[in-house]
Amino acid sequence: MKAFTFKRYGEPTVLNPDTLEKPEPKANELLVKIHATSVTAGDWRVRSATPFPIRFHSGILKPKNTLLGHEFAGVVEMVGEEVVEFQVGDRVFGSMGMKSGTYAEYVAVDVESPLAKIPDGLSFEEAAVVPIGFLSAYHFLQKVNLKPGMKVLIHGVSGSVGSAMLQLAKAKDAYVIGVCSSKNASWVKKWGADQVISYDKENFTSLSEKFDLIINAVGKTSFREIKHLLNPEGKYLSNDAALSDYLDLLTQTLGGKKEQIIVGIAEQKKTDLRVIQSLLAERKIRPYLDRVYSFNEIPAAHTYVEKGRKAGNVAIHVA
Ligand SMILES: NC(=O)c1ccc[n+]([C@@H]2O[C@H](COP(=O)([O-])OP(=O)(O)OC[C@H]3O[C@@H](n4cnc5c(N)ncnc54)[C@H](OP(=O)(O)O)[C@@H]3O)[C@@H](O)[C@H]2O)c1
Repeated sequence: MKAFTFKRYGEPTVLNPDTLEKPEPKANELLVKIHATSVTAGDWRVRSATPFPIRFHSGILKPKNTLLGHEFAGVVEMVGEEVVEFQVGDRVFGSMGMKSGTYAEYVAVDVESPLAKIPDGLSFEEAAVVPIGFLSAYHFLQKVNLKPGMKVLIHGVSGSVGSAMLQLAKAKDAYVIGVCSSKNASWVKKWGADQVISYDKENFTSLSEKFDLIINAVGKTSFREIKHLLNPEGKYLSNDAALSDYLDLLTQTLGGKKEQIIVGIAEQKKTDLRVIQSLLAERKIRPYLDRVYSFNEIPAAHTYVEKGRKAGNVAIHVA
């Protein structure tokens, strides 16, 4: 099968076309013919080993797994003998979790991994970019008890995780202010934000109002910068998981203060993807698709995503 692999860390040019064996599904796996995958912020970070500690998981000197790509949408081509939930011909989407392997024509997927049937009305490219952004957003929002009318500020609302946080918070009837550049302001408003602050025109840190939740969705702010904007019971949530977030959390904990900081790595659960699937089917949420690249353009898609300015998500059309 055709694939794109990388044998060393580096620039997008380390990604090259390759030919690999088509995988054989085990008893509890599906063989999925991939129609679309994505390039996420996590993909370029693994490709370039940025930051360095990524190597402790991906391989110290060179990548242990040469096949990148974390999410997929496609059609079930074969099912293992123990699989009862899916059938040949089902349109499915899912995430590989901490593994990877979707820059290829086929992938063998464990039925217990985050995997679901694609709701009607969603293209393969749209479905392929749902899991990482929405599962991450859903994981973190479950840690705060969002109630109708709560005031939420999302910094970096135009990213994959930010735009998913926005829609999940609106599904809970929160009042959401999104911060992004003016080039993204109009679609962010259309996607549900009650108010948008363009960071190139206005400084959100001088707002006089207070928030129940402030989300640092792309790592361009910090707890220190925003803590004066939190209500006494307010929480700061960072999915960017920068070292400074962990240090601020440690300082709060050691200082015996009430913990306001939520940070960590999102767990990706099959049950959570089922919730996302229902919300998609009810048209309560939908992914924002910035660009679709062809399979041969995976290195170009990496160059674009690495700039950190993609709007929502970037998909790869595989077949
Ligand atoms: N903890 C976890 O488990 C987990 C899970 C998934 C992702 N992540 C991490 O979460 C982060 C976000 O990923 P992502 O894919 O959503 O987005 P991304 O590709 O990292 O960010 C793209 C967005 O960032 C916005 N942006 C850039 N500079 C900004 C600034 N100064 N202020 C506000 N917004 C700015 C851009 O909007 P403008 O062009 O409008 O500036 C663009 O829409 C990444 O670091 C990723 O690795 C962590």
